[in-house]
Amino acid sequence: MGSRPSPRDDIERILVTEQQLEAALDRLAESLTREVGGADPILIGVLGGVFVFLADLVRRLDFALEVDFIDAESYGEDTEAGELKIMKDVDCEIRGRHVVIVDDILDTGQTLSALVRMLQERGPASLRTCVLLDKPARRVIEFEADYVGVRIPNVFVVGYGLDFAQRYRNLPFVGVLRPELYDKRRT
Ligand code: XMP
Repeated sequence: MGSRPSPRDDIERILVTEQQLEAALDRLAESLTREVGGADPILIGVLGGVFVFLADLVRRLDFALEVDFIDAESYGEDTEAGELKIMKDVDCEIRGRHVVIVDDILDTGQTLSALVRMLQERGPASLRTCVLLDKPARRVIEFEADYVGVRIPNVFVVGYGLDFAQRYRNLPFVGVLRPELYDKRRT
């Protein structure tokens, strides 16, 4: 068989290594175990980039929990913060339950803050947020996650679930694309 193209060929540099991801996951799992470990929480993953992170996270959590998913995106920067498009809602009843929303990356803050507002109205016992990556320089509204894996600078990243045009999700690290590939994207 000839050589096949690898998504690694498009990566300019690795921003968060596999070892750093492991360490971040260990820290997050420790905090979650301490703070919601006995509460039979529901972890709600925000599709789709979260699938790798959430899969690795839940396997570090040795307590009773539920996993559900929501597919939502904010309408963008020109519209009122808080406008959410829900492509798939959660299946579970969250009233009276301890909920942790899990997302791959916190960027402008619009998606997570709108999700928090929406789910809060359903009367959970508690509602927390957990993100693998945090890009504070991009924030357009005041919002901080309760649990943050790694803070990163203002660059567009792919890998470990994060995509560019649906590609690169399978890279085991978080990397920066070669500039000629992402130039037209926001950074
Ligand atoms: P907010 O509302 O915080 O939304 O802007 C975060 C969502 O934006 C996407 N996003 C990225 N996706 N590389 C990606 O692959 C990035 O660097 C990046 N920054 C933001 C992502 O869908 C996230 O859920």
